[in-house]
Amino acid sequence: MTAPEASQLDRLKLAAEDVRKHTDRVPKVALVLGSGLGAYADSVEEKVSIPYTEIRGMSMSKVEGHAGNLVLGTAEGVSVAAMQGRVHLYEGHPAEDVVFGLRLMLHLGAKTVIITNAAGGIGDHLEVGDLMLIEDQLNLTGRNPLVGVNEDALGPRFVDMTTPFDEELRGLAEEGAKALGFGVKRGVYAGLLGPTYETPAEIRMLKTLGGDAVGMSTVLEVVAARHMGARVLGISCITNKAAGLGHETLDHEEVQEVAKQVRERFVSLLGAVLRRLL
Ligand code: HPA
Repeated sequence: MTAPEASQLDRLKLAAEDVRKHTDRVPKVALVLGSGLGAYADSVEEKVSIPYTEIRGMSMSKVEGHAGNLVLGTAEGVSVAAMQGRVHLYEGHPAEDVVFGLRLMLHLGAKTVIITNAAGGIGDHLEVGDLMLIEDQLNLTGRNPLVGVNEDALGPRFVDMTTPFDEELRGLAEEGAKALGFGVKRGVYAGLLGPTYETPAEIRMLKTLGGDAVGMSTVLEVVAARHMGARVLGISCITNKAAGLGHETLDHEEVQEVAKQVRERFVSLLGAVLRRLL
């Protein structure tokens, strides 16, 4: 007989032990920083930065623009944990590895998740450079991190997904944006496996399905967060018009360039939300 595989809870306990060698901070908010936003973790105060390589169970991303550190500290006076870089399904990681870092931050004590990403804009109301508060999601990856034996200690077998994203948090973000003098949009995020960008026909399909923005991350993490009972704010940076809706072909450099241009606004919005969570 082969030894039973370590449960997700056992994996989390080992990873938490590794984190606790560095800090006993209990985070209140978990931040998942997408393309172009990783540097936000550098501005965290009282910072302890732990390379993923020093945390058992954490996988490293090889995608350009994604670092690999778990950062704990305070941002706007709020105790936070931040993932500076994340792994994606399209790199070949299994779903449970994709959500491991997020689960770890919740296991360490965070109850609120702010998750950010870069996305292609599908909805007519979205322009390049917009920030979109995610109202709902389409998990079109064909994967789910909860497949397999349920870890009852983490959450229930069948998870209610009626409110994947928290309306109160969206309200705080809108209030914060208004105070800063800019607007934010709302919409549905469609998460696909990638790594190819979509075809124009796929974008027409996504539009019919109710998708406003499209990307290759986030949806599995939101499932894992809801499983563990955390509330979630999701923000997409619209880095390009989705395939067939703009004039150019799509490439990663363009996505990164726009993410960089929007970064300042994005960071100020994160700050405004965090201040409202004090
Ligand atoms: N499609 C998928 N993922 C993306 C896009 C896109 O157009 N832009 C940024 N990430």
